Amino acid sequence: IRDDAAQVGEYIASYIAKRIIEFDPTPTKPFVLGLPTGSSPIPTYKALIARVKRGELSFKHVVTFNMDEYVGLPRDHPESYHSFMFREFFSHVDIPPTQVHILNGNAPDLAAECAAYEASIREYGGIELFLGGIGEDGHIAFNEPGSSLASRTRIKTLAYDTILANARFFDNDIAKVPRMALTVGVGTVLDSREVVVVVTGLRKALALGKAIEDGVNHLWTLSALQLHPWALIVVDEDATSEL
Ligand code: GLP
Repeated sequence: IRDDAAQVGEYIASYIAKRIIEFDPTPTKPFVLGLPTGSSPIPTYKALIARVKRGELSFKHVVTFNMDEYVGLPRDHPESYHSFMFREFFSHVDIPPTQVHILNGNAPDLAAECAAYEASIREYGGIELFLGGIGEDGHIAFNEPGSSLASRTRIKTLAYDTILANARFFDNDIAKVPRMALTVGVGTVLDSREVVVVVTGLRKALALGKAIEDGVNHLWTLSALQLHPWALIVVDEDATSEL
């Protein structure tokens, strides 16, 4: 627990930087990092960018896999997760774009796209550290309430609550929010060797409480982390108000 979102970001950034540096990645053994979108990871991204700019950290031998992407939103739309990731992070660090993996929500065969994504993660030997955020309904990636805890990368219909929550990025017009997304599964997240989740703000307090104080259940998919041997949840004071 840290005081505020900025301190949470600083903590996670130094944690991830340490993991990458200690891992000592090389071209043949890159560090495989899973990444989220959303406002929650932005302070972490800013703190990681600052470390790269100061010469303390490099992403040259880091390979990334993003958690999710909207279906049907053009890749260059400002709210696509592809645009978000380059705007908020990748354009400011030294990662070669060929080492960035983001699901293609406009692929002609979405099921094949999801299967190829899982295969690509496996080819890299799995994800070393998956950073995630959560939705107000406790979803991790876009694993909405009711998702199988064994789910893999797939197409998912967004919950109405998620469409409402994300309308702020689409001129507050729910008609403009995509209805579907491609997302890694809960099982995909659980397979990574380590999971770090950022939870900040009052609006996430209920989900945090359900996920860590109630049992493992498919309605608050973050709760699946209780099954993971190496999971870390970093939160601000506001997010703890239901604990
Ligand atoms: C979307 C993403 C999630 C993210 C969530 C929270 O639903 N698919 O991966 O965790 O937004 O966003 P924010 O951090 O802006 O609250």
